[in-house]
Amino acid sequence: MNLIICENYREMSQKAAQLAAEGIPRSKNSLISFPGGDTPLGMVEQFAGMVNAGEVDISRTRYVSLDEWIGLGPDDQGSCAWFNWTKLLQKLSKPFLEAYIINGKAEDLNVECGNLNMYIEKYGPLDLSVLGIGMNGHLGFNEDGVDFNLKAHVIPLSETTKSVMRKYFTKEHDLKYGITQGLLHIMEAKRVILIASGAHKAEILRRALRGPVDTLVPASILQNHPNLFVVADREATSAL
Ligand code: GLP
Repeated sequence: MNLIICENYREMSQKAAQLAAEGIPRSKNSLISFPGGDTPLGMVEQFAGMVNAGEVDISRTRYVSLDEWIGLGPDDQGSCAWFNWTKLLQKLSKPFLEAYIINGKAEDLNVECGNLNMYIEKYGPLDLSVLGIGMNGHLGFNEDGVDFNLKAHVIPLSETTKSVMRKYFTKEHDLKYGITQGLLHIMEAKRVILIASGAHKAEILRRALRGPVDTLVPASILQNHPNLFVVADREATSAL
């Protein structure tokens, strides 16, 4: 594991964007994935800036989203699709080769999971997976207790996630399920970058990185990843 401790959120965002850019192969088509949520906002802004300045070439890169709240789509402010479109895809003056954004409003969610699996199978494995960590240690919506051996799936949201989720939305949503890439997708990624910021993430980051590998803290599986970068600010690493 490569642990990179940054002074603050800004430095974390810059470092993560730089490591993400370096994780994109130059000589072949590639597949990458970024998380939604608050933590990646700065990184995504930096990354888009690097693309627009011609410092990163994404013309041979496909982008796939990590997860989505079931029932929400790109028009719902705070959804993962909304994040992906407004904070990343619409900011790029040079687009990705293609982008696959998970549809949380799909009529048949089994089909949506199958499509996501087929996409990652066809163009993957992921060259790069950037991840945030939830307050219960989730990655995407791989909630506590998740089966480590799953690909795309639909999963009930944990009570922790339900209480945290209000921060993303300007209006009330009654959300009960998430759809997500599975931990198998994440563990097959050639480079994983886990980002974390703030004192509120310190304890769960400690459990993920220093505790036992256990499905109760899904992010702990990353201890077994051969090419993991953890990029976090001082506050988030204060319990390590
Ligand atoms: C959200 C998303 C994750 C995200 C995590 C952390 O619910 N499902 O993809 O990485 O929780 O979010 P934040 O960065 O806002 O703390």
